[in-house]
Amino acid sequence: MIVPGPPSQSLAAELAAATDRPLAEVSFDRFPDGEALAAVPGFAGDEAVVVCSTPDDAAHLQLLQLQDAVREAGAERVTAVLPYMGYARQDEAFETGQPVSARAVARAVSTGADRVVLVSPHEPSVAEFFDAPATVVEAAPRLAEPLPALTDPLFLAPDAGAVGAATAVRDRYGAGTTDHFEKARHGGDSVTVRPHDAATAGRDVVVVDDIVATGATMSGAIAGLDDPRRVFVACVHPVLSRSARTRLARAGVTAVHATDTLERPCSTVSAAPVVAEALAEEPV
Ligand code: R5P
Repeated sequence: MIVPGPPSQSLAAELAAATDRPLAEVSFDRFPDGEALAAVPGFAGDEAVVVCSTPDDAAHLQLLQLQDAVREAGAERVTAVLPYMGYARQDEAFETGQPVSARAVARAVSTGADRVVLVSPHEPSVAEFFDAPATVVEAAPRLAEPLPALTDPLFLAPDAGAVGAATAVRDRYGAGTTDHFEKARHGGDSVTVRPHDAATAGRDVVVVDDIVATGATMSGAIAGLDDPRRVFVACVHPVLSRSARTRLARAGVTAVHATDTLERPCSTVSAAPVVAEALAEEPV
């Protein structure tokens, strides 16, 4: 059975359809003191695929609860699919005394999973933090699908880390050039994006990143463009925290295209096909 976590109900339904597996009934409740209770009242079978992005602390706990609930109901094999893995960007102790939060949550998830599937984590190496075998799948190429016909397109990465995603979208689109800017982050939502020498006047520019969180990176990159024709934003994980939507609107973005690893109005591309492919293969 495919078991949806609260933030991943649309993706789980897509995955059930793509893999021809039943979609489990789930309930999400809270006790009067605020403690969460995620349950799978009708679970049946010996294999469970729990699909749960973890964009907040409650979702982390609900994922662990669902993993435990299906075991309790008889599942012998549990796969945890994390479409968006929260805390993945805290993959090292950046200052003395800090935790490696990605490792901490990976270990916790591993206690209840025989296998893990991650969709486009910020750094693929985060998979190594799991004690269970972890597979990384890439959803970025699918972001080419909703793009309209583009004029002399430039697929732009706002920093070096996003070059792979920008190139993947360009390759799937089938035309255009790629380039990247240099980014320095000064704090939570303060970044400086230093433009490269890419010519942008009169061109359609698609700025591609794995995550849009506060929108500081995207709006900084767009501010560095010289008279583009239109600007599209393409990202795998539309976190869109704080004033991100307003930032993108004020930057003059024509459209935002994202996947359903996080369910937002712009999540028009499903990551289900790439997850389904991973489920069909044995982990290496
Ligand atoms: C970091 O390097 C990531 O690839 C994204 O660029 C970053 O997470 C975006 O965050 P924000 O929208 O807050 O600038």
